[in-house]
Amino acid sequence: YARSLTSLTSSDLDHFASFLPRTSIISTMAPFSDGPEAIAQYNADWMGKYQGRATTVLRPRTTEEVSKIVRHCNERGIGLVPQGGNTGLVGGSVPVGDEVVLSLGNMSKVRSFDPVSGILVADAGCVLESLSDYLQPHAHLMPLDLGAKGSCQIGGNVATNAGGLRLLRYGSLHGSVLGLEVVLPSGQILNALTTLRKDNTGYDLKQLFIGSEGTLGVITGVSILTPPIPRASNNVILALPRFENVLPLFGEVKARLGEILSAFEWLDRGSYDLAVKHGQGRALSEDEVEGAACFVLVETSGGRGEHDEEKLTDLLEFLLSADTPLINTGVLAQSPAQFSSLWALREGVTEAVSKEGKAYKYDISIPLSKFEEVVNMTKERLKNVEGVLGVIGYGHVGDGNLHLNIIASSYTPTIASLLEPWLYEHVSSLNGSISAEHGIGAMKTHALKYSKDEVSIEWMRKIKEMFDPKGIMNPGKVLLPREGNVMGE
Ligand code: FAD
Ligand code: MLT
Ligand code: ZN
Repeated sequence: YARSLTSLTSSDLDHFASFLPRTSIISTMAPFSDGPEAIAQYNADWMGKYQGRATTVLRPRTTEEVSKIVRHCNERGIGLVPQGGNTGLVGGSVPVGDEVVLSLGNMSKVRSFDPVSGILVADAGCVLESLSDYLQPHAHLMPLDLGAKGSCQIGGNVATNAGGLRLLRYGSLHGSVLGLEVVLPSGQILNALTTLRKDNTGYDLKQLFIGSEGTLGVITGVSILTPPIPRASNNVILALPRFENVLPLFGEVKARLGEILSAFEWLDRGSYDLAVKHGQGRALSEDEVEGAACFVLVETSGGRGEHDEEKLTDLLEFLLSADTPLINTGVLAQSPAQFSSLWALREGVTEAVSKEGKAYKYDISIPLSKFEEVVNMTKERLKNVEGVLGVIGYGHVGDGNLHLNIIASSYTPTIASLLEPWLYEHVSSLNGSISAEHGIGAMKTHALKYSKDEVSIEWMRKIKEMFDPKGIMNPGKVLLPREGNVMGE
């Protein structure tokens, strides 16, 4: 989404070098002339599907430095791509052309933490896992958790409105983020970094940046409400004989575990087998997996271990003793190591998929009852298509979010054209969302219309144009250019 953008020149680099140290500039251009290997990781996305052509990466250390960079790029009409941990799954974090990459990795300080309110204020470049580690001795935890926690940054999480494995318990970032500091495309610093739980003073501007995927500004600071660490956590993996049991199971689990239920995650048999094949978590025994069509991972987080365990054991007894049991078996974690290993089976699916081949990743919200149907329809459609290695489904069932992955030996136009727009049309017919949690990025710009009406898209454009009239911020992402714009033609 941009008018004609300008490529960076050596004099722009001289300008950046006037206020950034050498270590904050990586550039293959003169006068720096770094080797291509220095920049490669910033141009390639996590899946190896999208490839940028940036010549320069800037790694500012302060909000003021970000502001100076953005102001200059705006004046000159140079495109900018904010980049966090580069773990995004929709091609949003790498340039579509030769835009400058603005990496937040050097901004990684915790600014404050209040152990009474649980409010944490941190630089946007803090890695999610390092924030969890920071909170641990204070007996608090981050309200979100993702398989990418070791690399993704809190700024990237906010920019993508990441969901993840704890959304069922702690809700979305639209609720837990209390304030943001953002450098706007003009270079102005928007200080909305409040630490207040309640603040009804007109429009809540920070909400616009949650899920904006770097298209409206650069998030430099985040204020977030963190919950106390539950005193007792446990998990159990349930093996189900058929998918149809998932819905009634969810009902029973919610009713019987009540307030201690903290996650309800689903993986089909193909996902489980792949996770095991690629060494994610510890495989269940042959008896335990025998006849399993799919699995559900249930986590509890509560105040008293014995109480929670009793509830979990009662639940298992009930499920197994019914006339027609909803589950074949349940494996309850007996130690912290087993707890992690059961989680790894679910969390590790993404990694396993990437080890198996190239993934077409669809991240959709549809009625839970349709999860298996969509996976099966896709399997049928791709049956015998050359290069297709498998079709699997997994995801955050408790949130109505299916991850449909098509694994192929390489990305090919034939496979892509069989999947799109077919799948998006189907999601639209179910009144679903074409992106439940990963965002739009570069991957789904053309598909926005399947989940948003024309009026919504028009107002999104107006907001984009108001904040970023020159279209410098993450061009080619989220919104397609209006006719007459150069980028994307
Ligand atoms: P990046 O990938 O660097 O960037 C993502 C987008 O945000 C880009 O558009 C970028 O321009 C923008 N951005 C980044 N930082 C900033 C900033 N400071 N200011 C403005 N814009 C910025 N997602 C989920 O929702 N749920 C999951 O469970 C989940 N699990 C994952 C598991 C794995 C193994 C992987 C690889 C990814 C997973 N994801 C998941 C994808 C998810 O979007 C990211 O992991 C994460 O939120 C992105 O953070 P990041 O710092 O890597 O951002
Ligand atoms: C997950 O839930 O595992 C993530 O969103 C990543 C993925 O979709 O693979
Ligand atoms: Zn997910």
